[in-house]
Amino acid sequence: MKSSAPGKIILFGEHAVVYNRPALAVPVNQVQVDVEILDSDSAGIWIHAPIIDLHAELNSLQSDHAIGSVILKVLSLLDESPSSPNIQINISSTIPVASGLGSGAAVSVALICALSSFFSLSLTDNQINEMVFESEKLHHGTPSGIDNTVITFNKPVYFIKGQPIETFTVGKPFTIVIADTGIPAPTKESVGDVRKLWEKDKNKYESIFDEIGQISLIARRSIESGQPEMLGDLMDHNHSLLQQLTVSSPELDKLVLSARDAGALGAKLSGGGRGGNMIALVNQAEANQVAESLIKAGAKNTIITEIK
Ligand code: MEV
Repeated sequence: MKSSAPGKIILFGEHAVVYNRPALAVPVNQVQVDVEILDSDSAGIWIHAPIIDLHAELNSLQSDHAIGSVILKVLSLLDESPSSPNIQINISSTIPVASGLGSGAAVSVALICALSSFFSLSLTDNQINEMVFESEKLHHGTPSGIDNTVITFNKPVYFIKGQPIETFTVGKPFTIVIADTGIPAPTKESVGDVRKLWEKDKNKYESIFDEIGQISLIARRSIESGQPEMLGDLMDHNHSLLQQLTVSSPELDKLVLSARDAGALGAKLSGGGRGGNMIALVNQAEANQVAESLIKAGAKNTIITEIK
């Protein structure tokens, strides 16, 4: 039994989305997590996830282990004790860990989908999304739920925390270059730091969140009305607000500037920040040129993706 889940990028609204402002995210299908479940001769539930150097039997993992706890949650829906099925779970991924592309949520989504099929549980997308969100809450502090939602439904989302999922249509396709600083940056830390700033000066940070929320709203209208070229300035503005939230970094700023110098229409960090990935809006014909400049400026990897 095999299942997979895509990566994601946040186009607009990261961090502010934790404080109930809207954000836009899209799946990135060029990278993905694959989970395969096989019947096995060895006793127990063996998990092999070479990306994080994990080769272990479920019961040897701590009860709060990110992958182990997701498996236990699914098993609790069965009438069997955790050690009764003899299976092997192989997890592989091309999504870099802690890079802002949603690797953690994608592992959970692919894992739950594969287990649901293997045990004929017929879980719905809503149920899967809810279970992944519970796991995100355990491991990532105060997540908004945007990562699990865009990855579970594998659709563009206009996301407001706690509200029913809203997708959006793309009036005219547009091209994004994604570039990885290669610096792992756990979202939990940047989200926690923003919370500390907000607690010290709520007025100041609420108004930054308001501005970011406005950008998401205008961006959605521009995308739906087929005017993606408007997104460039919105990205630049969103990046400067993220700098004020202290979640950018010299490496991210350098990539953002070099994307703009190479002809991008706008650029910003994407996801939790401090490291991880940035995104740039480009004319399709200039995508390769911008990607090459980003590599020259220090990016470890680039992905060109069309949003349609
Ligand atoms: C992470 O992809 C996006 C953040 O806004 C955190 C969250 O929404 O949970 C930084």
